[in-house]
Amino acid sequence: MGLSSKNTIASPSHILPSIAAFASLSITFVIIYKVDNFAAQTKTVAGHNLEPTPWHLFPPKTFNEQTRQVRNYKILHCSYLTCGYSSNDDESDLLLSRSTKAKASGKKCPDFYRWIHHDLEPWSRTRISTTHLKEAREFAAFRAVIVGGKLYVDLYYACVQSRAMFTIWGLLQLLRRYPGMVPDVDMMFDCMDKPSINRTEHRSMPLPLFRYCTTEDHFDIPFPDWSFWGWPETNLNPWDEEFKSIKYGSQETSWSKKAPRAYWKGNPDVGSPIRTELLNCNHSRKWGAQIMRQDWAEEAKGGYEKSKLSSQCDYRYKIYAEGYAWSVSMKYILSCGSLSLIISPKYEDFFSRGLFPGKNYWPISDTDLCPSIKYAVDWGNAHPSEAEAIGRGGRDFMGSLSMDRVYDYMFHLINEYSKLLDFKPVRPSSSLEVCKESLLCLADAKQRELLERSTAYTSPSPPCFLQPPDSNFINNWIQKKKKTIKDMEDMKLKG
Ligand SMILES: *[C@@H]1O[C@H](CO)[C@@H](O)[C@H](O)[C@H]1NC(C)=O
Ligand SMILES: *[C@@H]1O[C@H](CO)[C@@H](O)[C@H](O)[C@H]1NC(C)=O
Repeated sequence: MGLSSKNTIASPSHILPSIAAFASLSITFVIIYKVDNFAAQTKTVAGHNLEPTPWHLFPPKTFNEQTRQVRNYKILHCSYLTCGYSSNDDESDLLLSRSTKAKASGKKCPDFYRWIHHDLEPWSRTRISTTHLKEAREFAAFRAVIVGGKLYVDLYYACVQSRAMFTIWGLLQLLRRYPGMVPDVDMMFDCMDKPSINRTEHRSMPLPLFRYCTTEDHFDIPFPDWSFWGWPETNLNPWDEEFKSIKYGSQETSWSKKAPRAYWKGNPDVGSPIRTELLNCNHSRKWGAQIMRQDWAEEAKGGYEKSKLSSQCDYRYKIYAEGYAWSVSMKYILSCGSLSLIISPKYEDFFSRGLFPGKNYWPISDTDLCPSIKYAVDWGNAHPSEAEAIGRGGRDFMGSLSMDRVYDYMFHLINEYSKLLDFKPVRPSSSLEVCKESLLCLADAKQRELLERSTAYTSPSPPCFLQPPDSNFINNWIQKKKKTIKDMEDMKLKG
């Protein structure tokens, strides 16, 4: 008893520290556990903690951080501790007053911008309510909300590769290019290939959903695709750089020295019937065509030298074939200045509506594929200066679509869309702010390089001037285009 009472008296002096130590250890564990848990619930533009879109499955993303702790630290650091901690007093703000004061006295926008009115027409009477957005959410991979010039993103699903990261980067660059001018807005995006808002099925309530392409049977609103800012997975540079490199590369060989054949290189295994059929046309004597399989794994090993687009312009004719839906390859094919043979497309992106048969491309029928290619090749070889002129028309069209013009398109599309909202956009409670620093923080080395290279600078002038809605113009254009395609097909039938 004596001993034990002595012990109890003596105990506080050495038990207390251990209790304290135990307590702080437990708190540390609790904190680590909570932090881990918190990190595991934080979704990022790089795709952390997101499932692939259920409507288009793809293998889950892998991340290359060494350990879970490192990854969790990075997620939390990038997501919560970067925006608002950086100085944003860059040149954007200095030019703010100047650019907002400038009146819209600028140049007229290219005619194809008129499709903005056409794409938004379904909501011109009903306008867009929060109910529209709630329903569109079911088809969206993310929601982008701009309030007071800041971008907030709510992520629902992962997008394949780095599409989400590069698309969101594009929105950030738009804010940089036109500071103080981009209105508050609330938009739903899907980043997979196929349009999903069928005009028949959604006739009673069209849903506004942005994606990279649409068709005449869908309500989906086309928006510039990620590759305008670069495509790290296929080694493609930001658009302005890539265009210049293709243009100058293609000019190294004169028209007469270019191979008098039609060339296609790509991935035929994307579930595209037209690409499968194209394989049958692979015969230079019989069909005047050369069809090559792109093997990305092999190309990566060879440093992508062979897949360099500028070295694929040594043919007088270049074939465009849609993939699983539209294909980003169209802009690179047209940039060659070769005569583009476009196989009757089902999908359209924001700029391809401005193309006109016989002016900047040659339409190829998908019902009579190999003979149609052969006919175009024979015609071009018999009419070299006409063929070259149409090829140049395609390249000039792409040349006029500089990044400055891409931002103008985004600006007007978002501006017109924002006028339709019947509510005031607010930051969703579940969203995170995304800024330049937070996005770069999540990028790997290769992504970061392309993102930095595609940084936009404040525009010294206001966006081009968007013409008012004119559905007659669009309808006439569509009719004229259809008729010209038919006339060109008839030309073939008559031989
Ligand atoms: C749209 O939906 C209708 C009715 O379900 C269907 O017949 C049509 O094929 C669909 N269109 C497209 C382009 O998927
Ligand atoms: C097409 O033909 C060329 C030459 O015969 C050949 O090298 C190439 O592999 C063929 N392409 C495909 C996709 O089989």
